[in-house]
Amino acid sequence: MAKDMHGSTVEFEHVTRSFGTVKALNSFSLTLNPGELVTLLGPSGCGKTTALRILAGIDRDYSGKVEIDGKSMKNVNASQRNIGMVFQAYSLFPNMTASENVQYGLRVRGVDSAKREKRADELLEMVGLSTQANRRPNQLSGGQQQRVALARALAIEPRVLLLDEPLSALDAQVRTTLRDEIRRLQTRLGITTLFVTHDQEEAMAISDRVGVMNHGNLEQIDIPGNLYNKPKSTFVAGFVGLTNRIPALVESKGEVMVLNQILEISEHSESVKKGEEVRALVRPENISVEKSSSSLASTVITKSFLGPMTRVGIDVGMDELIYAEMSSKEAKKLDTGDSVKLHIAAEAVMVESV
Ligand SMILES: Nc1ncnc2c1ncn2[C@@H]1O[C@H](COP(=O)(O)OP(=O)(O)OP(=O)(O)O)[C@@H](O)[C@H]1O
Ligand SMILES: [Mg+2]
Repeated sequence: MAKDMHGSTVEFEHVTRSFGTVKALNSFSLTLNPGELVTLLGPSGCGKTTALRILAGIDRDYSGKVEIDGKSMKNVNASQRNIGMVFQAYSLFPNMTASENVQYGLRVRGVDSAKREKRADELLEMVGLSTQANRRPNQLSGGQQQRVALARALAIEPRVLLLDEPLSALDAQVRTTLRDEIRRLQTRLGITTLFVTHDQEEAMAISDRVGVMNHGNLEQIDIPGNLYNKPKSTFVAGFVGLTNRIPALVESKGEVMVLNQILEISEHSESVKKGEEVRALVRPENISVEKSSSSLASTVITKSFLGPMTRVGIDVGMDELIYAEMSSKEAKKLDTGDSVKLHIAAEAVMVESV
């Protein structure tokens, strides 16, 4: 079956969707290449589900253009678009078995029962549920139910797969396993996929590219590494990866004083004036920590072991702790209560107005 699936090109061009005065999508433009997995990442209410619903054809009340393989979707109904969708909550039909759920889309399309059952068997095997085919949803775990939902979405051999927070109801371990399975399956089938989450770690782990959304706008779309290392706005920098926001003072047009160090203001910062009190954005891995006997020193308050890395929370006399990350080996030298001195190991930092 894998051979007859193919990934489509998907294009949103200046798509705007308003609900009263709220712009759920604001001139939203995005192109997905065939076989690509793109994730929309952003806070609650930023327009992620709206984008999926418009692409699926469930919501037709928008301006702008939506195309699949160069063809406008304006006059194409949801049922004719050949799109598979998995929703956030378990959305299986409760009175049907796993197999019947997977067969549903094929039944609607008039595929005969022998063929349907064969396809359902293949798909359930693909998602590791061969032996659960005759169970109803209430006899399956959450992770198993989402696997059935995935198999059901794939059964119609969709051109495009839409996944709206398919993992959010699952516990951490199942979440990671199923996430990797989705990615493996998606790559193998070469199916163009639009994935939605508000979990940045999940987005970074599963995607070819990630689009960060804010109030209906696509703030930046890029490969995960670039989003982290070259954020184009303080919103993206703050949303992708942990970042400290440290009170700082603008010394001159291009320089800022932060933790008693003078650093360059990096590009894509908000525009600020000399003498202005701002916040500097500093990644935990760019803060180095050294023991100190000075009476002006800061104090180690928390130590969180993260495996190979350890995150240390330090009280420097501000409202919030500053977090530094270092190898766990290095962190062994530090204890809570220790007096320490901080150093920002970066030449430039992003700043934002307070
Ligand atoms: N049917 C509707 N009627 C009125 N407003 C709506 C409707 N659907 C969505 N909205 C509004 O549009 C905006 C975007 O909603 P959307 O569901 O796309 O957000 P989201 O990014 O998926 O959020 P979440 O992470 O919470 O699922 C929100 O402000 C929401 O309140
Ligand atoms: Mg949503």
